[in-house]
Amino acid sequence: SHLRHVESMRISPSGAGRIPELKAVILGESLASEENDLVFPSDEFCKQALVSSPEKYLEMYKWSIEDPAGFWSGIASEFYWEKKWGQQVYSENLDVSKGTINIEWFKGGLTNICYNCLDANIKSGNGDKIALYWEGNEPDVDGSLTYKQLLERVCQLANFLKDKGVKKGDTVIIYLPMIMELPITMLACARIGAVHSVVFAGYSAESLHQRVVDCKPKIVITCNAVTRGTKIIDLKNIVDAALLESSQNGISVDLCLTFENKSAMKKEDTKWQKGRDLWWQDVVPTYPTTCDVEWVDAEDPLFLLYTSGSTGKPKGVLHTTGGYMIYTATTFKYAFDYKDSDIYWCTADCGWITGHSYVTYGPLLNGATVVVYEGVPNYPDSGRCWEIVDKYKVTIFYTAPTLVRSLMRDGNEYVTRYSRKSLRVLGSVGEPINPSAWRWFYNVVGDSRCPISDTWWQTETGGFMIAPLPGAWPQKPGSATFPFFGVQPVIVDEKGNEIDGECSGYLCVKSSWPGAFRTLYGDHERYETTYFKAFPGYYFSGDGCSRDKDGYHWLTGRVDDVINVSGHRIGTAEVESALVSHPQCAEAAVVGVEHEVKGQGIYAFVTLVEGVPYSEDLRKSLVLVVRNQIGAFAAPDRIHWAPSLPKTRSGKIMRRILRKIASRQLDELGDISTLADPSVVDQLISLADS
Ligand code: WTA
Repeated sequence: SHLRHVESMRISPSGAGRIPELKAVILGESLASEENDLVFPSDEFCKQALVSSPEKYLEMYKWSIEDPAGFWSGIASEFYWEKKWGQQVYSENLDVSKGTINIEWFKGGLTNICYNCLDANIKSGNGDKIALYWEGNEPDVDGSLTYKQLLERVCQLANFLKDKGVKKGDTVIIYLPMIMELPITMLACARIGAVHSVVFAGYSAESLHQRVVDCKPKIVITCNAVTRGTKIIDLKNIVDAALLESSQNGISVDLCLTFENKSAMKKEDTKWQKGRDLWWQDVVPTYPTTCDVEWVDAEDPLFLLYTSGSTGKPKGVLHTTGGYMIYTATTFKYAFDYKDSDIYWCTADCGWITGHSYVTYGPLLNGATVVVYEGVPNYPDSGRCWEIVDKYKVTIFYTAPTLVRSLMRDGNEYVTRYSRKSLRVLGSVGEPINPSAWRWFYNVVGDSRCPISDTWWQTETGGFMIAPLPGAWPQKPGSATFPFFGVQPVIVDEKGNEIDGECSGYLCVKSSWPGAFRTLYGDHERYETTYFKAFPGYYFSGDGCSRDKDGYHWLTGRVDDVINVSGHRIGTAEVESALVSHPQCAEAAVVGVEHEVKGQGIYAFVTLVEGVPYSEDLRKSLVLVVRNQIGAFAAPDRIHWAPSLPKTRSGKIMRRILRKIASRQLDELGDISTLADPSVVDQLISLADS
């Protein structure tokens, strides 16, 4: 009977044309063997699931597509609105030929996401429920806050911010590691209508500086240091360097609130700039524990989050309040089959979108108990994650394929040493999860008992777009399955024609959803060009995707010059520009190569300035320049010396050829006759292992 269900799941049944050439280009893993591989949820799981059958899903999905206004306003009514939205639930234009791109949801409604996360849950009787469990880097260092306590902390900081002149619409940069003060700060900004911009605390001073200059924050909030595994990272030093550079470029920040993270570094050892820096512990606790809410329009900005694109500098993805709130709450609830009794742990850092939507907002809007972990997954050893699962009785565990693969490599005994019997739902995000990692996650971590929610989405989409609803239908290892309510994914060919049935192509989305980003900060034109001009009428994701005979979606990776390293999005252009800033580097071309643990590794072809000899020291200093300009997570895995790069007669670098050389697929180089100088290729191959 399940097979019949699968049959009835086909969302676009008409079997239109296929595009085999494209498929050959963008399809990583052969589907043939995987697409018939079904993993069924247990009857026991289905019985308790929020969406318990394909029929139920289809019914809700159909409603959400046919009547988005009715569907989403029904859900939105369950939240607190100081004033209800206007006549029109949403309005949109995704077609550049019809004017400027515009998406609005619940416009005219007044609400506050912090109020809905905290006050609303306290009012409904959850005040004494644990909101956050915090697990420090060292196993014996931990803490927790109930919803009431969290609200008090948030209010104190909100009052401090107001007192320092931070107002609705002002920007606040947050450069913090995974300590409770990170979600506290996000919520405090939201409470007073300030726009937060969290910068992942693994970014370098240079990257932080770029973001400061772009969004001109009123204040920067950081901590002095953090310990990750055995390493101590001096964050305050990085902030000092970034702010110094910004002020030299005419943007000065007058206030830097610094939390003393005692377990990592003492006050006395922290560098200090009098007049600008304040210790959090000295000032914030002196403020009142209640703070009035600033009611904001649903379309007022909530946050900016910088992310990498295929060209140029990072873009400030802007999310607004109302639609994002409804969307993160709803996707969290259904994709994890959330129940009040769940204990939820997402290993992502709040510096990325996953931490925004699924550490802070989505779970707290549902009144969930969330685990926040400061450290790394393999400290003190590779069993740490499961130790944490057992310690807090985690029921929903959400992580990235790179973590799954690295723990898989370390061996099953680190897993089986712990009980893990509290687990009931697993989740994956950040990159396609290869079927063998999926299997290990399912069989070993989840004891073949827990459905895996493989959630496809992006910084831009705000929340899940394609994801399994656990218990609704059988899964296929490696497939993100079907669209979430209200989402209409379409696969298009090179010309932008929608293709149906079994097919492969570019993944686009037709019509808006509440969680969609509204613009790129300060650059609406780039927003339109990057996302809406490639395939007119659609939002273009930048990902390749195929749909199998049963309608399941298989994400195949980026089709642009963005690479995905351990689930971190990195633009090849950013790494190249860091490399060429090195005085001895004349030119650089960066491509992604398959990497056993990270998914993709960074492979850089580097041409040196005339007359400069290759050396191991130079290689190291090139890697260092990338670490300094972007961050350690973007350091190239390989530098390949390139006396020259393969270019067309018009001077365009042929990356297709570089990708083949990088992955040593030398018999698949294809036509090289269009190169200005085809002999470059042999030269590069001869230097491959030097
Ligand atoms: C990739 C992270 C396959 C994809 C939430 C996308 C995935 C990019 C998945 C966005 C998944 C994310 N399966 N690919 N489940 N989740 N991706 O903005 O290439 O950091 O375009 O958002 O990650 O990365 P971002």
